[in-house]
Amino acid sequence: MNRVDYLRISLIDRCNFRCQYCLPQGAELDYVLQQDLLSQEELLNLIKEVFIPLGFTKFRLTGGEPLLRPGVIQLVEEIANLSQTEDLSMTTNGFLLSRMAQDLHDAGLRRINISLDSLNQETFDRIVGTFGYSRWQQTWEGIQTAYEVGFAPLKLNVVVIPGINDGEIEDLAQLTINRHWHVRFIEFMPIGNPDLFNDRAWIPSEELRQRIRGKWGLIESRIKGNGPADVFQIPGAKGTLGFISQMSECFCDRCNRMRLSADGWLRPCLLNETGQIDLKTALRQGIKLPQLKQQVAQLLEIKPNINFQQRESGTDRGISHRTMSQIGG
Ligand code: GTP
Ligand code: 5AD
Ligand code: SF4
Repeated sequence: MNRVDYLRISLIDRCNFRCQYCLPQGAELDYVLQQDLLSQEELLNLIKEVFIPLGFTKFRLTGGEPLLRPGVIQLVEEIANLSQTEDLSMTTNGFLLSRMAQDLHDAGLRRINISLDSLNQETFDRIVGTFGYSRWQQTWEGIQTAYEVGFAPLKLNVVVIPGINDGEIEDLAQLTINRHWHVRFIEFMPIGNPDLFNDRAWIPSEELRQRIRGKWGLIESRIKGNGPADVFQIPGAKGTLGFISQMSECFCDRCNRMRLSADGWLRPCLLNETGQIDLKTALRQGIKLPQLKQQVAQLLEIKPNINFQQRESGTDRGISHRTMSQIGG
């Protein structure tokens, strides 16, 4: 059985982008009210008294957009300073990185994953939304700043959408040749928005690999991540190419993670709400941390059965009441 030692912590459900694949179009989400977010103190207590004692040593901060969370730099510093923290990372859309990357690095964050679905401004805007001006340039600058500041590995996440950005696979892959950047192609998952893109929703990773192999060749990389990506490399390239293939493959048997939502729900599986625990309400009702630790330990025990449930039920529709932006990817 896989060791579960990786907690993805959503700091906020709000986002300053509206990526088509992440937020249902036109829908107004009920954002979590400020008072319903786990406070910094509650979050740190849970990390120190519940998750670390249960063996969690890897933490990823997600959103919505985690950089919108007030106090995020201080939170990074507090988690980075815990002696048991072996790995602290963040997944962001990069828009605020040009001004925040240095402070994040100074606070102790060393690696970062940034969404970049297109190198073409129009396509980028089409995916992330239009806001009166294009957000491409500032995002690109955010990526450059993160690189210059020294984030390593620096990973770029591309959700591949047929007919929208699938023509750019080679251009995006090429970024890894001369830079220490790690580009990951993600199969679109119809989570929280099952009708989007209909039957043309995703392209199998193997198809993308064939295209890249045809152009440059492709070898398996010795560099492995902590997550579900299969890692390859263009021969001689400085960076790597990752493929996250949750639609064409099942990697549930190597799942090493749980997810904590911004409003304090602990979710054992991305694709499945079974067994969730409302840690925030429990804390606020005065339930003591050792007792919560006990509940989480029990959830860890049943997690392997929960992981496979979704696959076995054979449906990818209606799998979640929450969108990706609310779960944190
Ligand atoms: P590292 O390998 O630690 O850098 O992180 P990661 O790839 O797990 O993190 P990231 O936030 O960049 O996630 C990228 C994508 O991987 C997510 O958007 C999901 O599409 C997919 N993913 C991550 N974890 C899971 C998981 O537990 N199940 C499934 N089905 N997909 C996941
Ligand atoms: N399918 C696959 N990946 C998604 N992400 C967001 N929504 C989806 C989806 N429906 C990815 C984004 C981001 C990460 C947190 O989740 O690319 O990098
Ligand atoms: Fe925001 Fe990330 Fe969702 Fe895009 S994928 S809307 S950047 S949370």
